[in-house]
Amino acid sequence: MKPIHLFFSLCFLFLIYTLSIYLTPLTVAKMSTIDSEKAVSGRIVWQKYNCQSCHQLYGLGGYLGPDLTNVVSNPKKGERMIKQILKYGVKQMPCYNMPNDDYKCLIEFLKSVDASGLADPRKYTISKTGMINQK
Ligand code: HEC
Repeated sequence: MKPIHLFFSLCFLFLIYTLSIYLTPLTVAKMSTIDSEKAVSGRIVWQKYNCQSCHQLYGLGGYLGPDLTNVVSNPKKGERMIKQILKYGVKQMPCYNMPNDDYKCLIEFLKSVDASGLADPRKYTISKTGMINQK
């Protein structure tokens, strides 16, 4: 094959490849089930009841209770359990007689937090000497 033929074949392949990239529709994660307005108010509810003093989001916050970043999508927990815990309290956690609106907004807020990532995406092991080895 002559160099000029090779050049034009590569140009042609480049154009085909570029076209295929631009024509492929973007796949964006759907957040349609989250009511973003309620999620914004839910953040205020989260602050009003000071959940952060005992709970973490993305690993940051108080350490009396567990991290709640992914509590909504956890198959063993989820919305129903959260409702019961808020209503009746558990161990050191007080019960909250919050209005239904506050509850709904709080759930939307927790859903939006959950959709935004993982509490701790790192995978690590702790060695005998107590050092943390990140994988
Ligand atoms: C005084 C500290 C404290 C505050 C404030 C608090 N919690 Fe808790 N919460 C806890 C503790 C401790 C637990 C764990 C109880 C257990 O061991 O079962 C817990 C558990 C939970 C759980 C279950 C989590 C799991 O993975 O089992 C949810 C959901 C939860 N809290 C939500 C909230 C929300 C929402 C707020 C704010 C309205 C809040 N908590 C405020 C202390 C607190």
